[in-house]
Amino acid sequence: MLKRRNAAVMAVAGLGLALSLAACGDDDSAGGSDAGDGGSVGKIGVILPDTESSVRWESADRPALEAAFDEAGVEYDIKNAEGDADNMTKIADGMIADGVTVLAIVNLDSESGAAIQEKAASQGVRTIDYDRLTLGGTADYYVSFDNTKVGELQGQGLADCLGEKPANIIYLNGSPTDNNATLFAEGAHSVLDGISSYKKVGEQAVPDWDNDEAVTIFEQLYTKADGKVDGVLAANDGLAGSAISILEKNGVAGEVPVTGQDATVEGLQNILAGTQCMTVYKSAKLEAGALADVAIALAKGEDAETTGTTTDSSDNSEVPSILLDPQPITKDTVKDVIDDGGQKKEDVCSGEFEKLCADAGIS
Ligand code: BGC
Repeated sequence: MLKRRNAAVMAVAGLGLALSLAACGDDDSAGGSDAGDGGSVGKIGVILPDTESSVRWESADRPALEAAFDEAGVEYDIKNAEGDADNMTKIADGMIADGVTVLAIVNLDSESGAAIQEKAASQGVRTIDYDRLTLGGTADYYVSFDNTKVGELQGQGLADCLGEKPANIIYLNGSPTDNNATLFAEGAHSVLDGISSYKKVGEQAVPDWDNDEAVTIFEQLYTKADGKVDGVLAANDGLAGSAISILEKNGVAGEVPVTGQDATVEGLQNILAGTQCMTVYKSAKLEAGALADVAIALAKGEDAETTGTTTDSSDNSEVPSILLDPQPITKDTVKDVIDDGGQKKEDVCSGEFEKLCADAGIS
């Protein structure tokens, strides 16, 4: 059912984005806006969620978004809500007052996200959900990866590391306020629950993806399972790191496979060191590029090219979407992330990791 959103999805053939006006400044770009074909577009606002739940937002998404908008020659403003939904609301109000014509958010929870989108729409500002779907929201488009597939890749990755022998598994899920976390867990369970030799011995969601709280939560789950834990489904690399710290404390890091997501420097290093069995790489360049394409189309009053629709589980409405393909990464393919520019070799292969990188064929 397409009800409150932009139903007509027309392909916008090649936006022909030329480098017309280079934006400057690391936060707020300067200059006018011209999407390269002479059509003037307004300013685009993006609000990232925080700096703690994953390093990706500031280390990968921000630079990729800046590069995509700079390349398109559009004016933009990227801010970070620092994990505070009231702060995100204030930033959104400020951006709307400042005249953005398109606003993209990575919501901190669906309720505050939906309120921001409603207010934006009432002022004639088009909105986009970036990475996280706002349940009950009014975003015109949703740009993300196939998040159920992310969970399936994590489940399959853990199964590949565990093999078929009986295994006790702990699930350390993402924030209960993040719709993605629900999809990751569903995807992982869809694979692991089908393997009869596996047993779930603990599962908990980590509020706000808080890595410190995850250490405490994981330790409690581990103790409750009497340390009889053979595998850990951790929803991202940060949570994986939290679990690994407790496995280390118990002298079993490296023996108990742990999954992850985001292909962070730390996650890739843990994979090289053998304490993490896999991660999921979601190219920030692709996601930011897709967001820029949609934002520019909207700013020009056009429809954007989509890959399909996503069902908002709160009201069964369909949101026009661009969903990208996530990639599983193991020790053998850490080099693919580096080759793709997802991380820099000098960051991943520093110090003690130099030799491990060479052993993994990263030259
Ligand atoms: C994103 C993940 C990220 C997590 C914590 C999720 O919504 O899809 O990439 O690790 O939030 O920020």
